[in-house]
Amino acid sequence: MPFKKDFLWGGATAANQCEGGYNLGGRGLANVDLVPHGKDRFPIITGQMKHLDFDDHHFYPAKEAIDMYHHWKEDLALFAEMGFKTYRMSLAWTRIFPNGDDAVPNEEGLAFYEDIFKECKRLGIEPLVTITHFDCPVHLIKNYGGWRNRKMIDFYERLARTIFTRYKGLVKYWLTFNEINMLLHAPFMGAGIVFEEGENQEEVLYQAAHHELLASALATKIAHEIDPDNQIGCMLAAGDYYPYDCNPENVLEAQRLNRENLFFIDVQSRGYYPAYKLKELERKGIKLPILEGDLELLRQHTVDFISFSYYSSRVARVQEGADLAGGNIFESAKNPYLKSSEWGWQIDPEGLRITMNTAYDRYQKPLFVVENGLGAVDKPDADGFVADDYRIAYMAAHIEAMKAAVEIDGVELLGYTSWGCIDLVSASTGEMSKRYGFIYVDRDDEGNGTLERRPKKSFAWYKQVIETNGEDLSND
Ligand code: BG6
Repeated sequence: MPFKKDFLWGGATAANQCEGGYNLGGRGLANVDLVPHGKDRFPIITGQMKHLDFDDHHFYPAKEAIDMYHHWKEDLALFAEMGFKTYRMSLAWTRIFPNGDDAVPNEEGLAFYEDIFKECKRLGIEPLVTITHFDCPVHLIKNYGGWRNRKMIDFYERLARTIFTRYKGLVKYWLTFNEINMLLHAPFMGAGIVFEEGENQEEVLYQAAHHELLASALATKIAHEIDPDNQIGCMLAAGDYYPYDCNPENVLEAQRLNRENLFFIDVQSRGYYPAYKLKELERKGIKLPILEGDLELLRQHTVDFISFSYYSSRVARVQEGADLAGGNIFESAKNPYLKSSEWGWQIDPEGLRITMNTAYDRYQKPLFVVENGLGAVDKPDADGFVADDYRIAYMAAHIEAMKAAVEIDGVELLGYTSWGCIDLVSASTGEMSKRYGFIYVDRDDEGNGTLERRPKKSFAWYKQVIETNGEDLSND
């Protein structure tokens, strides 16, 4: 049997993409609330367009999302019905510290998550909690400039200490920052950064990166102090870059781009800045804001496991004007051997095995696949049922590849949580119509719909996968 007996099968969500209730229970405003659906989304998430207040001509999907704020019990019951061993979710920072720099936490927010964790325990589901999944209190952006400011480390520490203490015994698996490398590509989401005119954007990004890396190390330290049972993971938006061909220039470019992604994990897992990054920053005249004790902190508090999202591999090609593939915000040349999803994301199950091997060879720490799945348009039939065989095929192929990484290559794997186990708002586009779930949610891109939940065909299929610990992937 390739997967361990206690393999953590489950699904993943993020607060801002499913919770809604943006102004309920004393919650403060977060960057993610202000990211609209439509053409301004991209300039906003990349920090190029300042948008720190709601206006009347945009639609803000995160405000209500799928209203898990009111439906969480029903949703957990459905996850339990599928046999979930784990559920990956994130906390909304502003539910707990509405402004981010508040002296005391908001009890209503803390109690909200405590109830969820207790229900998880009751259902035999191990929570896997992302401390921040693209969210940052707006107050901290307006008053401190987001993660460019070192004070953010103190606010994050306050959050971390509060939740590790409060949820001791209820939560054991934690991820410090969702897709930490996304900071370089979508800095408003990844680090609450809005660029000022004329500033050196790259320098700001690396300042923020240093602060997040320190915050992550500090959280790891505190988590271990509060409860030695805590397991802390980093989280990477993964997907190896392949060289387009054997032209050494493309091979070198693939290596450069892979390092660009892995740099964060190199620090979080090995505990020091890799030479290639230090050299690059030196060449560019970028100085990291390193203070006394920083490097020691990074060195001493490395993560326990490596988690990542995987949707696709990527292709590196130096040629100007090369045909580009769509993708998870990352640029990639088109791979002629692969098919694409309706959103142009190239589908490459073998790439998951390759990516797992890269990570395991490099870090020799247990891996956790915490996101994977197919965003597709689902068309319910006259009875409202979605026969999503395309999703089943996608997932079966990826689980098969994961199996090979474990069984043939010997990778140590803790678990698998598919992305968007219940339909939710897309992070890159703000659409509801880009669905990933085993559970259909009746809501459209404009916010219409009853929010009714309905199992799709993949629901029963995933139940069977979990029941057989990944042995039976058939779709009859
Ligand atoms: C990851 C994020 O980048 O990919 C998720 O961690 C996101 O938040 C997921 O939803 C899928 O991307 P999208 O853009 O299809 O929602």
